[in-house]
Amino acid sequence: MTGKQKEKKLTSYGDAGFSKFIRQAFNRQLGFEKEDFEKPVIGICNTKSEINRCHSHIQPLIDAIKKGVLMAGGIPLEFPTISLGEINTSPTTMLYRNMAAMDTEEMIKAQPIDGVVLIGGCDKVTPSQLMGAASADIPSIMITGGPMNNGEYEGKTLGACSDCRFFWQEYRGGEVDEKSIEEINAALAPTAGHCMVMGSASTMAVCSEAMGMMLPGGAAIPATENKRMKHAIDTGKKIVELVEKDVRPSQIITINSLENSIRALMAVGGSTNAVIHLTAIAGRLGIELPLDLFDQLSRTTPFIANLRPAGQYQMEDFYRAGGTPAVLKELEPLLHLDEMTVTGAPLRDSLHDVKVSDVYRNIITSFNSPLHKEGGIAVLKGNLAPDGAVIKPKAASSELLKHTGRAVVFTSSHDLENRIDDPELDISPEDIMILQNTGPVGAPGMPEAGMLPIPNKLLKQGVRDMVRISDARMSGTAFGTVILHVAPESAVGGPIGLIKTGDIIELDVENRKLELHVSAEELEQRKTEWTAPVFEDRGYTRLYQNHVLQADKGCDFDFLLATNKDKVKTE
Ligand code: FES
Repeated sequence: MTGKQKEKKLTSYGDAGFSKFIRQAFNRQLGFEKEDFEKPVIGICNTKSEINRCHSHIQPLIDAIKKGVLMAGGIPLEFPTISLGEINTSPTTMLYRNMAAMDTEEMIKAQPIDGVVLIGGCDKVTPSQLMGAASADIPSIMITGGPMNNGEYEGKTLGACSDCRFFWQEYRGGEVDEKSIEEINAALAPTAGHCMVMGSASTMAVCSEAMGMMLPGGAAIPATENKRMKHAIDTGKKIVELVEKDVRPSQIITINSLENSIRALMAVGGSTNAVIHLTAIAGRLGIELPLDLFDQLSRTTPFIANLRPAGQYQMEDFYRAGGTPAVLKELEPLLHLDEMTVTGAPLRDSLHDVKVSDVYRNIITSFNSPLHKEGGIAVLKGNLAPDGAVIKPKAASSELLKHTGRAVVFTSSHDLENRIDDPELDISPEDIMILQNTGPVGAPGMPEAGMLPIPNKLLKQGVRDMVRISDARMSGTAFGTVILHVAPESAVGGPIGLIKTGDIIELDVENRKLELHVSAEELEQRKTEWTAPVFEDRGYTRLYQNHVLQADKGCDFDFLLATNKDKVKTE
């Protein structure tokens, strides 16, 4: 493969000889000679950004990757792509995930590189890079910046952003005063790195490793550990080998490796967002991941990692306990072990020498003594969500998992913001809060609005959880009895948009049921009175609203799914 990729891309001027000549001239600016470019050229897809706080520390890792590439006889070259920082991006990074994936794919395809190292970390960056690399399909390897170290406040461990949400709720409820909330704020993000609970960033890192796109152990190494530098050097060395062997994402990301990834997701109680992202990554290779498959694998995968927000510990602890390799070792009887990985060998080989220490069984339990016998995400269906919805039962209140209540409807995030703390709001703890028009098309971008705040007057009565239903997502660091990703969404005429305050809703997680107790005739009548929202008339948002798929299909753009031609290429 070495050189072929570059040759293929030396045609921009309609004169391959001239293209080579002019590129060589400009590459001399870096001090490279002609023969240097006979070596494998490795692009380092760089999402460094000071605004994306989770990526602000990755330059030393990029430098380490470069060392590894050089050691292995390749030429490393950085190139920038869009960086999506969860906290500092409005209205939501999910609106831009597909744009980042397009940027990644097109830059990989456009530039004369033989292989690529994808370095990311924050929630949407990892999936966008994997989506882009899957479509570009040249040898690729994923590395993340790693999680932050644990925070600490008055002797208790703090975790971003589960504790951002927990303490803000307590502050709103009057249980935490001004001085304390300021001190907590200063302690929530104590080091470089991404969120250190099993939120979306950590989850997507674990999923990348489990699907074989990251070197073993990489997901959990804290951002500040020198082992992460070693991991970066190893990643740089490995990509050169993958180029030499021509191991491409389409050989690694298969239905079987995706099933391994879903099993890992379920075993660690990972983020519901991963359901959308894995579906989108699969779609880039023509692989379908129906929601029923997630549910089936969840029901047959033991929940073995005791990690927040569904458990007690955080990524630093997970790392000490053995991280993803330890989880995969425990899950070994359920995995497809012959799947190729970026090690250049099947998963079976990576797990051969993994020993799971009994010292840390409080963090990673065993296959035979799991924390729960089923995995962390359940898929619900019913007339309220004909195409499905998801819930994270282990992060919910067990007494609410079977609940029937009266709907209290908010028609948008704006409506919610205006009325949630109104003392006159007619709401009781048994009611079910509904948030409409926050799906992929409606918001647009499907913001993390699904963990609706508990109304202030109920917080003051001590209420901390209620059933909440929306077509939005929630952060992987969030918690509560929250039903998300309802499809089809309100903005395309889904039943969730037809709910009225006072309707009765039945939730039964054990039986995977989400029913609106309104007759089909009445819903039909409401549908005739429903009007579609007005969409943006220009720019990226217009493109997004016109082409984004629903949550159960992964929210990719319809025109980015693999075509028949792509499928042939990958076979
Ligand atoms: Fe980037 Fe949480 S804000 S991972």
